[in-house]
Amino acid sequence: MIAKTEASGGTGLLSEVLTFTSSLPLDRQLLREDLVGSLAHLTMLTRQKIVPEADALAIRGELLATWDAAAEGRLQLPEEEDVHMAVEAQLTAVLGERAGLLHTARSRNDQVALDLRLRARAVCAEVLAELGRLLETLAARAEAERDLLLPAYTHRQRAQAITGGYLFSGYGAMILRDVEAFRFALATADVLPLGVGAIAGTSLPIDREVTRRLLAFARLSHNGLDTVGDRDFALDLGYAVTRCLLHLGRVATDFVDFSSQEFGFVRLGGEIACGSSMMPQKRNPDLFELIRAKSASAVGNLTHLMVLTKGLPSGYNRDLQDDRRPLLELGPLCLDSLRALQMGLAHVEFDRERCLAGLRIGYTQATDLAEALAERGVPFRTAYQAVGALVRRCQEEGRVLSAAPAEMAQAIHPLLNEELLKAATPEGSVTRKRNLGGTNPDEVTRQVAALRRGAEEARSAAVAVPSLGTLFNNLRVAPLR
Ligand code: ARG
Repeated sequence: MIAKTEASGGTGLLSEVLTFTSSLPLDRQLLREDLVGSLAHLTMLTRQKIVPEADALAIRGELLATWDAAAEGRLQLPEEEDVHMAVEAQLTAVLGERAGLLHTARSRNDQVALDLRLRARAVCAEVLAELGRLLETLAARAEAERDLLLPAYTHRQRAQAITGGYLFSGYGAMILRDVEAFRFALATADVLPLGVGAIAGTSLPIDREVTRRLLAFARLSHNGLDTVGDRDFALDLGYAVTRCLLHLGRVATDFVDFSSQEFGFVRLGGEIACGSSMMPQKRNPDLFELIRAKSASAVGNLTHLMVLTKGLPSGYNRDLQDDRRPLLELGPLCLDSLRALQMGLAHVEFDRERCLAGLRIGYTQATDLAEALAERGVPFRTAYQAVGALVRRCQEEGRVLSAAPAEMAQAIHPLLNEELLKAATPEGSVTRKRNLGGTNPDEVTRQVAALRRGAEEARSAAVAVPSLGTLFNNLRVAPLR
């Protein structure tokens, strides 16, 4: 046990206490972040002449060796309270007392905040890259399905006609907001906490600006008391992931429904459809159902992080160590779901006839008829009542709206003539909605262009974040003076 002195009751700790309090089983996942952080800290200490260069070279050599050993799967970390102490114990076993120079002007409190921020930043970058790919997928699909006509739903009742282009750009609009959310989460994470020590800074002549540049952080944190207890970056990441998964769940639900016999709008490819162990006829949308399910874990993780920080006093509290599992789970949860959705969408095929039939028997042109009357000067509410009466008559007679006899329609309102009835087609319905945000194909083209711009933004935000491997490669040869 390294983090124990006579003052803290001697070097031993009950093994049961160590087991209960140790975060090593989870935070060994942060080993690479920890090593990169230590390399940057060591470089800064050496440049500031706080650590002699010869010792720094020895320590750096051991940090590099630890990285390599981990990469080759032959690293055995000593039993310690956490990954930070385990690395130090490892260095000490090889280098002896000199290893202790590394922890000069550093506490595990700022060290763990650094490791977590490096992870959160990398997760944001990976998710942004994946969001970029999803936006490209949706843009391409919106173009491919631009002539497909299908009903849009309110209250899960057929409402109005839209195109496949509009459907996919609608999904893309949600994903554009995810790009914004992850860029925000990235900016929150992109702050260097290292250098504030345990809580109040250090009397040693460190230079945090050097460390910031070495680790390519955008900013420095400004107050140690705040920095060591701040997990806002985890909350922001948690919220971005949660909201993104809620979005994916809504898309997934559409495809669960669309692939049912009741809708019959899409057919699931054999590559993604699951079967039943008992019912031989089944072609199930399990992939989409499980995408929908994943938001539950995200909500759980976000809730965990919020409750964990609720009511904590200022400064560092060990409670914060329990941020580990939810925080580490968020990245894979989001990335796996984003990839699964793209896989699913690649294997669904629309049944254009069934989609069109849904429009014909759904009276979805009723609003268009009412608007056509309004265009001819009839107050909208009057027009709405007249068309409502016409729909009712058609339903009683088992006719679709376009088959309403003109005499019947004109008996309800004289302006409801043959020409208006004929024009009330699904094609006419989508092309006439030319307002910004409407279904007209030109408008959809504009929306698709916005998706592509968003994809580009997401990609450039992602590539601006240096990978851990890049930081490591720079640090392994960084000048020490
Ligand atoms: N294992 C701790 C964590 O993950 C590191 C910080 C512990 N600090 C301390 N003073 N015990 O949060």
